[in-house]
Amino acid sequence: MNTTSKAFRPLTIGPLKLRNRFIKAATNEGMCKNGVISKGLARFHENIAKGGAAMSTVAYCATSKDGQTFVDQAHLSSDTIADFKVLTDGVHKHGAAAQAQITHAGSFTFLPKDFSTAKPISAMGGFNKFGVMTGRYTKKKMDRADMDDVADQFVRAALHAKEAGFDAVEIHMGHGYLLAQFITPFYNTRKDEYGGSIENRMRFPAEVLSKVLDAVGKDMAVTVKYSQTDGKAGGNTITEGIEIAKILEKTGAHMAQLSNGLNVESISAMFGNPLPATSAPPKNLIVRLGMLMQKKSKEPDREFSQLYSMEPAQKIRAAVNMPLCYLGGVQSMENIEDVMHNGFDALGLGRALIFDPNLINDLQSGAQSETACTACNQCVLLMYTPGGTACVDPNGMRGHASNLNTQRASS
Ligand SMILES: Cc1cc2nc3c(=O)[nH]c(=O)nc-3n(C[C@H](O)[C@H](O)[C@H](O)COP(=O)(O)O)c2cc1C
Repeated sequence: MNTTSKAFRPLTIGPLKLRNRFIKAATNEGMCKNGVISKGLARFHENIAKGGAAMSTVAYCATSKDGQTFVDQAHLSSDTIADFKVLTDGVHKHGAAAQAQITHAGSFTFLPKDFSTAKPISAMGGFNKFGVMTGRYTKKKMDRADMDDVADQFVRAALHAKEAGFDAVEIHMGHGYLLAQFITPFYNTRKDEYGGSIENRMRFPAEVLSKVLDAVGKDMAVTVKYSQTDGKAGGNTITEGIEIAKILEKTGAHMAQLSNGLNVESISAMFGNPLPATSAPPKNLIVRLGMLMQKKSKEPDREFSQLYSMEPAQKIRAAVNMPLCYLGGVQSMENIEDVMHNGFDALGLGRALIFDPNLINDLQSGAQSETACTACNQCVLLMYTPGGTACVDPNGMRGHASNLNTQRASS
């Protein structure tokens, strides 16, 4: 039993004490047909808790129906509290905490026209490239009233999360969703106080963070996930990544999880390697579009390596004192020690815990020293399929049953 590594010692973020430093990163499990939180999703997160992680993150919980990327996605509202409560109860039963990732898609949405008649909103108006497949060709440039509405949505979502028994909310400011559409120069060329300098581009996201902290920050941890670089020429570099961290720290975030890249323009920056080539294009629009754009965007060739995100993350570590969660390619006990040695407070794990939810217990007991997950990214192609996000390796998914039921969690 490993009793010496700092990674297995408790961590306090805001008002929340975690039993160790391992956080299951958000990995959009799907399993929410027509927005219904299923028994399968609850079981998935219970397995993560049982497997030893300190906290499991549920992705992504939309702040409103218009904030969804897809119809089959969770929305934090009074309608879903009872089902989410089943999920959080299951996580708590095993001594772990549950975190809701709260997100608004902005223009990065594939809702059909008849589902949402309003135009998608974003930092800028005009042509909406994501609407080409759904016929929502234009987006609305947010005015101050829209910003007030979205900030209220984040606050309401956090309050619903609290009621549903979540211990933390993670505000998604990365990967190209609405708040990232303000932060990245790819999507924000505004000339007012919300555009231009990074301070201006962060003004609205920081305001959302501040309001959520005021509403729930005494009772729940309020964390932020953001892209430390956009991973593509013309986007945010680590210089902006550091400034963003400083603004989050000044605003009072309880922790920041350091991710990379944009969903479509630079997806390989997020995963450290590209999505796999397939002969049959995946049915899901987002994945299909991601793969198409990946081909077109001529991303630099990236070959997966463990701890692929360490170099920029170290620069952020050196610039702020706030708790930081390292994310990207954590695969072994040796990696974990490196992350701790480099001064990070927590570790996020995505693919390795899809492969094996029991990894943390096994690392602690010494039964495993390294995951056998190959980071092949086939799990990404399974997002939103009827069985939900899953590992394709026959040795993977130990303990995760594929979810082919759509029964609500509380039924
Ligand atoms: C199947 C899958 C779905 C994901 N969905 C989300 C998501 O909904 N929100 C998010 O912030 N990140 C998402 N991610 C990114 C992960 O949180 C993480 O940043 C990435 O997998 C790198 O961490 P890893 O090397 O530990 O897998 C997803 C990753 C995978 C593999």
